[in-house]
Amino acid sequence: MTRASLDKQPHEVAAMFDDVAAKYDLTNDVLSLGQTRLWRKAVAQSLAVSPGERVLDLGAGTGTSSLPFAAAGARVVPCDFSLGMLREGKKRSPFLPLTAGDATRLPFADGVFDAVTISFALRNVHDTDAALREMLRVTRPGGRVVICEFSHPTLKAFRTVYTEYLMRALPPVATAVSSNPDAYVYLAESIRAWPDQPALAARLQQAGWSKVAWRNLTGGIVALHRATKP
Ligand SMILES: C[S@@+](CC[C@H](N)C(=O)[O-])C[C@H]1O[C@@H](n2cnc3c(N)ncnc32)[C@H](O)[C@@H]1O
Repeated sequence: MTRASLDKQPHEVAAMFDDVAAKYDLTNDVLSLGQTRLWRKAVAQSLAVSPGERVLDLGAGTGTSSLPFAAAGARVVPCDFSLGMLREGKKRSPFLPLTAGDATRLPFADGVFDAVTISFALRNVHDTDAALREMLRVTRPGGRVVICEFSHPTLKAFRTVYTEYLMRALPPVATAVSSNPDAYVYLAESIRAWPDQPALAARLQQAGWSKVAWRNLTGGIVALHRATKP
């Protein structure tokens, strides 16, 4: 069983997701108490794709995060570096053009996508800034990005309760439902270590994105950052 450490060595991260692939979507639904579906709907609304647009869904895993864009008529390309997750995705959604690729060295030409999105994956990429620059490179001028990631609850009392849930309740629940409970210890640790909303916005700006803004979901447990390529 593989559990990545906070230095996020790419081979450890990929192996960890290979391990959890078969039960990934089910575990997600259980641990998020069903919130994942609402968060995915909000991402689709925020990216607002039109039929025929070319959309990159980076760190797409089993492709579940790509389905709303396909349903909206976009030409979505799910990309991930865990072959285990991609294989599971191919079984479930054989119509999706699942593509192997590393977020820090994307296998796409410059400016080929109208929009790029990444859900619950940027936190796992070993070099966040390199990924933000690569996402900018493959987006056309005027194109947009939406990042959906765990963030930091804005109300202090709620933040305390949530941190307790992450560190105490989540690991035992994960033990009951996941094929690799250790991966969920990494999940809790990596969420706590992740930059807060303003800090991630600053990183997007530094990478060259403009019109950066964010919106909190579920009190800031999740934040959607959006931006445009100048
Ligand atoms: C928590 S899953 C999210 C999957 C999907 N986006 C979703 O919302 O269900 C994170 C995914 O990011 C992928 N990932 C992590 N680092 C990556 C990298 N450097 N390049 C490509 N994919 C990466 C992992 O393999 C994993 O499938």
